[in-house]
Amino acid sequence: MAAVMHSLAIQVSLLCIRHFPGMMLSMTVTNGGEKGSASGGERPAAWAPRQEEKPGSTEVPTGATVEIDGVTMKFGELVVSQDINLSIPPGEILSIVGPSGCGKTTMLRAVAGLIPPAAGSVRIDGERVSKTPDGVAMVFQHFGLFPWKTVEANVAYALRISGVAKKKSLGKARELIQMVGLSGFEESYPHQLSGGMQQRTGLARALAVRPRLLLMDEPFGALDAQTREVLQFELLRIWQERPVTMLFVTHSIDEAVLFGNRVAVLKGHPSGVAEVVKVDLPTHRDRAVTTMPEYLALREHVWSLVMAGDESR
Ligand SMILES: Nc1ncnc2c1ncn2[C@@H]1O[C@H](COP(=O)(O)OP(=O)(O)O)[C@@H](O)[C@H]1O
Ligand SMILES: [Mg+2]
Repeated sequence: MAAVMHSLAIQVSLLCIRHFPGMMLSMTVTNGGEKGSASGGERPAAWAPRQEEKPGSTEVPTGATVEIDGVTMKFGELVVSQDINLSIPPGEILSIVGPSGCGKTTMLRAVAGLIPPAAGSVRIDGERVSKTPDGVAMVFQHFGLFPWKTVEANVAYALRISGVAKKKSLGKARELIQMVGLSGFEESYPHQLSGGMQQRTGLARALAVRPRLLLMDEPFGALDAQTREVLQFELLRIWQERPVTMLFVTHSIDEAVLFGNRVAVLKGHPSGVAEVVKVDLPTHRDRAVTTMPEYLALREHVWSLVMAGDESR
């Protein structure tokens, strides 16, 4: 009976990813999740560095290569974006900005293997994406934690659907909860947490699959300015410890420049890549970066590109 219930829960969760991804603040999208595997197994599980992998080490490649090659996205007759070409090397953060409705979420969903492109292809580490790939996690703007599960149970669930045995998952969940600064709140339920704390839990869930690719869809969009800033720098710290590849969609030009190694500006109907701006700032991004003249100049440049494509002014 328990096995049947568990399997049912996985199916429901997969249904959510496929049909209601906006409901999921942070939905891990993994091979284990795709296949509903809950069998335990040897797959690496937590984000914490492996014994042979020292924090900050560049010896072990941690990020995926993503190639978006001539991708056109359509819904029926609506051509959302056309001939998108983006190549993202391992460990890069590519920020993506563009007007509302230009197809940013749709592009992330194509990369996650949730919707097939009408033309072109997406490859992750050379493999054409036709279904949800292994080690890809998505974080959404709107909180979608399981409300009936505690912080710990939410994270442990993500670990279990990625193939970690139940016994191990609680210990791993605690490591991840500590990493996102939520120690002491393991037994809290989502409704007892602030937005920022819910997003920390969401982040821990996404990190639970030890992703090689993080797809961030306006992850801090629903937070107040102060919480947003705190979480931005925490995510940057986590990324600096283990630089996975990130596609980082945001409405905030400041955030796009702060996070991005490059910023892709989308515009037009259907949308295309107007320009990819290289962000020549120190790899270590802290608050001081935001006062550098180079940062301010880049922000102005991206701003002018976005405004040039915005007919709603
Ligand atoms: N499932 C869907 N069915 C039909 N149209 C959709 C669907 N999802 C998105 N769209 C349309 O595709 C366009 C791009 O949407 P989206 O990718 O969400 O934009 P963005 O994330 O840039 O704001 C919009 O016009 C939206 O209405
Ligand atoms: Mg969107």
